Amino acid sequence: MTATVIDGKAFAAKVRAEVAAHVARLKEEHGITPGLAVVLVGEDPASEVYVRNKGVQTVEVGMASFEHKLPATTSEADLLALIGRLNADPKVHGILVQLPLPSHLNSELVINTIDPAKDADGFHISNVGLLGTGQKSMVPCTPLGCLMMLRDHHGSLSGMNAVVVGRSNIVGKPMAQLLLGDSCTVTIAHSRTKDLAAVCRGADILVAAVGRPEMITGDMVKPGATVIDVGINRIERDGKVKLVGDVHYASAAAVAGAITPVPGGVGPMTIACLLANTLTACCRANGLPEPKGLTA
Ligand code: GUN
Repeated sequence: MTATVIDGKAFAAKVRAEVAAHVARLKEEHGITPGLAVVLVGEDPASEVYVRNKGVQTVEVGMASFEHKLPATTSEADLLALIGRLNADPKVHGILVQLPLPSHLNSELVINTIDPAKDADGFHISNVGLLGTGQKSMVPCTPLGCLMMLRDHHGSLSGMNAVVVGRSNIVGKPMAQLLLGDSCTVTIAHSRTKDLAAVCRGADILVAAVGRPEMITGDMVKPGATVIDVGINRIERDGKVKLVGDVHYASAAAVAGAITPVPGGVGPMTIACLLANTLTACCRANGLPEPKGLTA
């Protein structure tokens, strides 16, 4: 079997087009422009690239982009004061503080200072609790993107066996909650799981989010399963730097029914979902109906 390739790049473009159409209607019918504020502390080159891409795509869908670049030496008090101002600013509907933060800043405190209704990342403890109890919340972007691709590919996920490999707060745990919300039977596995291969082979849906290059190999995949690869790992091979996922693509694609590539799979969906979340937050803030198909 050769797997169907789930094209995240094309799917993300479709999501952005839907967001842009909704934003245009909000402007025309209500005079409202959704706004996303992104806060970057320090000069981590990878984070600077992410933040630039976010700014460009925010403007492309017709939203207002507010970028706040602060020096690495910024005090916690100053950062919390900025978040307070963004919380109070009616032009700002979504707030994202780029992680990781410099080590002298308490990330949990910073994230939990964001107004939960403006928490575009879905990392605030209130949103974590709401998602965990099946209530309306802001949902972390990467798992939301994975869910959208799975729903698009399968229609209903009800009754499917889903295995999530990885237990991070940003991907693994919220991914498991979302799959449970769609009535999957969910297992969270991780690097210490006994006989991980056997656990993975039970999966109709296998989500790899462990951060270990090419750890999930074809022999761990059930024939016909859908494999979602969240990993983005830079490795050196044949003297060149290469981007690979947490899944060994060639061997897994030979067994799976469908698979996301790296690059071009889950990656592009993350920013698309950030824009979708900002739109959702804006609609909720204004008491307007939420966009269909762009939320959990
Ligand atoms: N750094 C890497 N990915 C992310 C993300 O999704 N959100 C935030 N805030 N920081 C990140």
